[in-house]
Amino acid sequence: MNNVAVIGSQWGDEGKGKIVDWLSSEADIVVRFQGGHNAGHTLVIDGVTYKLRLLPSGIVRKNKISIIGNGVVIDPWALLDEIEEIRSKGVMIGIDNLIISESANLILPFHKEMDEIREDAAGKAKIGTTRRGIGPAYEDKIGRRSIRVMDLISEKNLDQRLETVLLHHNAIRKGLGKNIFKKDKLKEDLLKIAPKILKFSKPVWKKIYEFKKQKKKILFEGAQGILLDVDHGTYPFVTSSNTVASAAATGSGCGPNSINYVLGITKAYTTRVGEGPFPTELKDDIGEKLGTRGKEFGTVTSRKRRCGWFDGVLVRQTIKISGIDGIALTKLDVLDELDEIKICVAYEIDGKEIDYLPAAVEDQLKVKPIYKSYKGWKSKTKGIKKLDDLPPNAKIYIKELEKFIETKISSISTSPERNDTILIEDPFKS
Ligand code: IMP
Repeated sequence: MNNVAVIGSQWGDEGKGKIVDWLSSEADIVVRFQGGHNAGHTLVIDGVTYKLRLLPSGIVRKNKISIIGNGVVIDPWALLDEIEEIRSKGVMIGIDNLIISESANLILPFHKEMDEIREDAAGKAKIGTTRRGIGPAYEDKIGRRSIRVMDLISEKNLDQRLETVLLHHNAIRKGLGKNIFKKDKLKEDLLKIAPKILKFSKPVWKKIYEFKKQKKKILFEGAQGILLDVDHGTYPFVTSSNTVASAAATGSGCGPNSINYVLGITKAYTTRVGEGPFPTELKDDIGEKLGTRGKEFGTVTSRKRRCGWFDGVLVRQTIKISGIDGIALTKLDVLDELDEIKICVAYEIDGKEIDYLPAAVEDQLKVKPIYKSYKGWKSKTKGIKKLDDLPPNAKIYIKELEKFIETKISSISTSPERNDTILIEDPFKS
């Protein structure tokens, strides 16, 4: 039996929530391993919509254990609000089904403020972050001055840790002409909520080891997408964590050999929120149509997503970077009404044809897509559950896409509903 890592193969928002939820019927354990409440996973179950940000998608299923790993950055207030919101929809959340790593780093209010200060000051160079404090929190983690879940246990320790981190932040704030962030009120606020967080806190690496020994099936749930990876994405227009599959191991405390199958979630077209290069972006009626039919608005920030044709060059690249074994193709039904559908098969830069996205942002902004066109199927695929029932032109599009990205498509999602999925290969069993 496999353990499976699910990751986005584009710029996030590929529809991971639905696929993870659907796969979690088979899994025993669902683990978030990076990112924070910048992620937004929407699940629609029996007509009820659940919007998850920090909680693993397994939380809405009975008899599953959800884990927030050490690689996640946690805004403790956002987490507690989310727990309450999901509980109010009738979902049970307690120490039996939620575990939080004691080593996870906290996002604190001065991180959010720093994110906003920087974005506001950057003008045209802004990243277009979710303004949740993700970047500044990861910076403090790497800078070894962060506050972690375990630091909430002792008042004395928390006081010292806050002293250290605020020394750094207040120096920058002073330089930027901002007010000094006061330690005492923050410490008081943190100590007030500490018991509510600490009750979930455990050594995650040890729990995962035990679950592995018990032959439990583990699903690692990635957030964002590979093109937002801090090393492999469209830097600097990226998030501040590693979103590739191997981050599942470091972000939860198990070896890379604990991941047996990497499932890449891929939208049948491309979207991106925030700034940065997007070679196949469509700033025309077709782009608008994709956005409207695909309901392309951010789960977290409600921002309109930029839309464009499927970029085969990019997806082929992210498949290689992250060792993706199979693709779950999502939102095929959004293309149902189009006369013509295009796939980007190469780029042109300075008169030369290239088969990958260059690393420099200046070059990424310069590349021009070279397309191959396909006839649309002009009929409804929404809700189809068998491959044979797809219209012939949809089958051609999928086959061509599969051939181009050199990786098998193991499932196809035809609506946001949990059961509207064509299963070709089960990642847990292949
Ligand atoms: P940050 O993660 O808030 O720092 O934002 C950095 C970049 O990642 C921005 O372009 C965001 O729009 C993008 N981003 C962050 N989280 C998500 C996500 O869950 N889906 C899509 N884009 C995201």
